[in-house]
Amino acid sequence: MITLRTIAEIRDHVAAARATGSNIGLVPTMGALHDGHLALMRAAREQCDEVVASLFVNPAQFDEASDLAAYPRDEARDAELAAGAGVDVLFAPSADAIYRPGFSTTVTVSGLTDRLEGAIRGPGHFAGVCTIVTKLFNIVAPDIAYFGAKDAQQVAVVRRMAADLDLPVRIEVVQTVREPDGLALSSRNVRLSLEERERAVALSEALLAAEAVARDGAADPAAAVRDAASRALAARDVEPEYLELVDADDFTVSEQPSGRVLLVLAARIGATRLIDNAALDLRPPAATG
Ligand code: PAJ
Repeated sequence: MITLRTIAEIRDHVAAARATGSNIGLVPTMGALHDGHLALMRAAREQCDEVVASLFVNPAQFDEASDLAAYPRDEARDAELAAGAGVDVLFAPSADAIYRPGFSTTVTVSGLTDRLEGAIRGPGHFAGVCTIVTKLFNIVAPDIAYFGAKDAQQVAVVRRMAADLDLPVRIEVVQTVREPDGLALSSRNVRLSLEERERAVALSEALLAAEAVARDGAADPAAAVRDAASRALAARDVEPEYLELVDADDFTVSEQPSGRVLLVLAARIGATRLIDNAALDLRPPAATG
């Protein structure tokens, strides 16, 4: 694996790979790599000839300066993990290489980004994500880009943006990787104290409880699912920031959701904000007899 830091270098490298007929996979990350990121890299390794992973802690998408400052950074460790997952090129630019003097352009997706994560993290968050992802797509020109299902709203926003702007890239979504007890892997999990780490399992427990109710069916499946998830959170004294059934494409919350929906939830465990989600199929109970 090689590490490249400038836009000219990565462009030349990708152009040379493409000239030999290689297809290019891109895995955008902010580093602090864990098995979730590595699952994206392994998926890219399987499907692409040349795998590029980007490592860039994007200041534009952080809503709180303290969150940006506290974001874990260890490039040497990340490089070793990425190489082990089969990455060919680590693109690790400086902030100055990405946001050059006079930088003034922002890519925004409207509507979808006003809700849930967008509402809580502020309008700058998804604009920051869209702007960096557009730049990465333009710099690397991947055939396929990989994103994690854990950040479901990010997936919906990136898909919307790529479709609206006719970006010539296929978006692949990789299933959420979890700890053995169910907690979704996240770079923020390292901030949890032992006691908080135990309570954090409430999020995946809530999703499991909701999945069980959805599988069994209920007269009012949406209400039953919400209720099951709320009770699982309350059992560990976790207050959700939001817990909603939404349309997976546009994240609208419907009064009477039915069929395929996403259950999305966010909660603060101590000072750490965690999110998780599950795809559900809401239906009435199967007729018996
Ligand atoms: P980051 O939080 O580093 O995540 C990089 C990618 O890893 C995202 O697509 C995210 O959804 C995925 N990921 C995180 N945890 C995962 C898990 N437990 N299982 C599977 N995939 C997981 O998301 C970002 O960075 C940034 O917003 C970025 C897209 C890089 C733009 O700056």
